[in-house]
Amino acid sequence: PVMNDLAGRQQREQTLAQQLDIAHCTIVPGDSTAANGSLNAMAQAANRVLTDEMPTGHSTVAVMGGHTLAAVAQALTPALSINRQLLFVPARGGVGESPAIQANTVAAEMAQQTNSDFRQLYVPEQLTTATYKPLFAEPAIHEVLQLIGQSNVVIHGIGQAFAMAKRRKMAPHVIADLAAAHAVGEAFGYFYDAEGHVVSKFPRIGLEIGDLAAKQLVIAVAGGAEKGTAIAAYMRLAPAQTWLITDEGAADFVLKK
Ligand code: BG6
Repeated sequence: PVMNDLAGRQQREQTLAQQLDIAHCTIVPGDSTAANGSLNAMAQAANRVLTDEMPTGHSTVAVMGGHTLAAVAQALTPALSINRQLLFVPARGGVGESPAIQANTVAAEMAQQTNSDFRQLYVPEQLTTATYKPLFAEPAIHEVLQLIGQSNVVIHGIGQAFAMAKRRKMAPHVIADLAAAHAVGEAFGYFYDAEGHVVSKFPRIGLEIGDLAAKQLVIAVAGGAEKGTAIAAYMRLAPAQTWLITDEGAADFVLKK
């Protein structure tokens, strides 16, 4: 029965990856957005996949924020940095969410858990274009932006459009525009509809979705039935090498549709 369970799970992971048109999926039991749900199983799975798949030698790892990524950071261990020199950087400016789940915090925590290095990017998430352009020239910011550009590994979360708009305290008229455009999900500051068309992109600093295609390893960690639509839609914009770590809640939702 253990063998059958394993074979069955691997079959489902392959079916999900095919349906989403990405390289790999890992599915853990449970539903992380359910009332008693936990992010822990996905976080542990992320640690295993990273330990298996992270290239040896030097890597610059760009990470996003969120509760899911904060849980992943807690699950990393020093084993990840055996035969590897890792530098963690936030993938985008993100001061603005609560401190525990900011990309800066996640990068620092991942470095601490793995005895590695990190850099911080002290730039608010939402800036007017006029403000953020000159910031590029600041040496301390320029240096980190270059490292983000050179990153070869990316780890990120996926959010529901309105949950993320509210969490970022977006103005009511901006939220109304997202609703009118049928936004369902958000990743990297891009809001998109169910077909994976970007409906809104906020002027921010750092990694763009278009940069992902050139990255060696791209890991998305997101689960829960509630996030099913946002996850499936994001995969229409995701680069082909994306490895999704998710749970049964989201996998069931996507496979039953
Ligand atoms: C945010 C990222 O920090 O976390 C978003 O900027 C992402 O791109 C979100 O969608 C996911 O958050 P959570 O809490 O659902 O893991």
